[in-house]
Amino acid sequence: MKAQELREKYLKFFESKGHTIIPSASLVPRETDTSTLFTTAGMHPLVPYLLGEEHPGGKRVASVQKCVRTGDIDDVGDNRHNTFFEMMGNWSFGDYFKKEAIVWSFEFLTGKEWLGLDPKRLYVTTFKGENGIPRDETAIEVWKSVFEKAGMDVAVAGEDEIIKDDIRIIPLGTEDNFWIAGATGPCGGDTEMFYDMRPEEGNLEGKFGELVDSFRIMEIWNNVFMEFNKTADDQYEKLAKPNVDTGMGVERTLTVLAGEYTVFETELFQPLFEKIAEVSGSGYQDSDETKKAFRIVADHIKAGVFMLADGVTPLNVGRGYVLRRIIRRAVRYGKLLGIEKNFTQVIAVVVIEMYQDFYPELEKNKTVIFSELEKEENKFRQTLEKGLKEFNKLSAITAAEAFNLYQSYGFPLEMTEELSKEKGFAVDKEEFAAEFKKHQNLSRTASAGAFKGGLQAAGEMETKYHTATHLLLAALREILGEETYQKGSNITAERLRFDFNYPKKLSPEQLKQVEDLVNQKIQEGLTVELKEMSKDEALKLAKVSFDPAKYGDIVKVYSIGDFSIELCGGPHVQNLIELGHFKIKKEEASSAGVRRIKAVLEK
Ligand code: ALA
Repeated sequence: MKAQELREKYLKFFESKGHTIIPSASLVPRETDTSTLFTTAGMHPLVPYLLGEEHPGGKRVASVQKCVRTGDIDDVGDNRHNTFFEMMGNWSFGDYFKKEAIVWSFEFLTGKEWLGLDPKRLYVTTFKGENGIPRDETAIEVWKSVFEKAGMDVAVAGEDEIIKDDIRIIPLGTEDNFWIAGATGPCGGDTEMFYDMRPEEGNLEGKFGELVDSFRIMEIWNNVFMEFNKTADDQYEKLAKPNVDTGMGVERTLTVLAGEYTVFETELFQPLFEKIAEVSGSGYQDSDETKKAFRIVADHIKAGVFMLADGVTPLNVGRGYVLRRIIRRAVRYGKLLGIEKNFTQVIAVVVIEMYQDFYPELEKNKTVIFSELEKEENKFRQTLEKGLKEFNKLSAITAAEAFNLYQSYGFPLEMTEELSKEKGFAVDKEEFAAEFKKHQNLSRTASAGAFKGGLQAAGEMETKYHTATHLLLAALREILGEETYQKGSNITAERLRFDFNYPKKLSPEQLKQVEDLVNQKIQEGLTVELKEMSKDEALKLAKVSFDPAKYGDIVKVYSIGDFSIELCGGPHVQNLIELGHFKIKKEEASSAGVRRIKAVLEK
């Protein structure tokens, strides 16, 4: 079965069970969700509905959601980790519960017109009860009855978690069978479905965990029965209505259907491998090293293409840093395969061909995808050789050297760590992280000291408010007129306060225009550029006049696109996207002809 047929079957099945089909949400979570950098599961964009909000599609929805999980980037290259994957899922918002969910899962997996998998190769886990939450007897009973209908009399494993004879239901604890997306949010016990990958090896017997580790059985579907909302103070609040949240990996399901052992054998990787072989002259099967490199290049460029299509661009912070890291890691592994020229775009073309039918945003944004890949690859290749030469001279690595490789040659810290591991150097992760932090703080404190405009401390929030103040002034000048100037500014970690000249109270419309313009700029994700120049040059360039007597001969100019150009000591955020949402809380008189705005940044 092809991926597209699988996606269509899944959606058709759940449509026939009264579900509204919804499109995949962006890989970039909605603005108010700061729990993760990327969408990590089908339920992620649906959290508000799982917590009780009404979904426009009704109480039953189903989707195929593109996801990125970045926790295991360094493991990509082995036979099972991916950063990008697709998750099929069906949801009940306070509608059906355990019985229907399980019965339908079984029907979709084993029904002849659906996946037609062999029920005799199916094993399931359920929640055994822990932390005051009882064992899920309902799930066990429903599973017993669906197996019985298929002519199978099944038994439940004991505390030893050993599968033998008729045992097919294995109750497990919180670690395995209680699901939550992050630290807080909707959650509950779950039931997971596993498939026997190698029935030719005889009866399946042994401890559950060991059978998973040896890839004898592989998880293909998870049904979460959400009954709680975990709060920030670790309380499990009972949800008004329980939900169902399920997740079935497209890649894994295809692997099972194809009778293969790894996702890399499927059509979601093979065309990429063919192209990598063509541009590198190496073969996937040549050695363990080539296998690893092919997998990394394919996975990372695929993930990168999807991120770029959703508006992420390479940066040194946040989402952009993850993107930068994976593109650079792909380039380095491409180099190990013998690729010395730019190649990420050629692979991106294949990714787009493979996925464009289901994800039209790829084709739509291909110009940006190609140009960003080109830019990033060029940038990295310019210093890659030199950086590697520098690295190869070392006989051990210190945190300071790792920082130098980052600063001078654009080596992401994780890449240096990986190179160090390959060479057998000891790496003290904490010391490295501390070194990177120290440099960040130093530059902040240094610039904060030079800035006398009301900045009280160099904390992170203050930095954000400082950048927001530049945006606010630029927006005011655009909406109210060029004759608007700063009359005072005060920043704390909680808010900004900004005084400016204007003869009368601003109307609600004007305030909204200012607010919208600032948020629009934040959403555009512009970077804040710093240039040092002579005071004369700066006076010509800066949009906002200032008192030249206050500054030395060489000054710093911070610009945000051509929207804001201000002479200033800093510090500022690197990318506006870090600011979140800008909201004006108050507009009032400060003194005659001077107005005051108080504003906050919200997540
Ligand atoms: N949200 C559940 C998972 O990702 C279904 O496994």
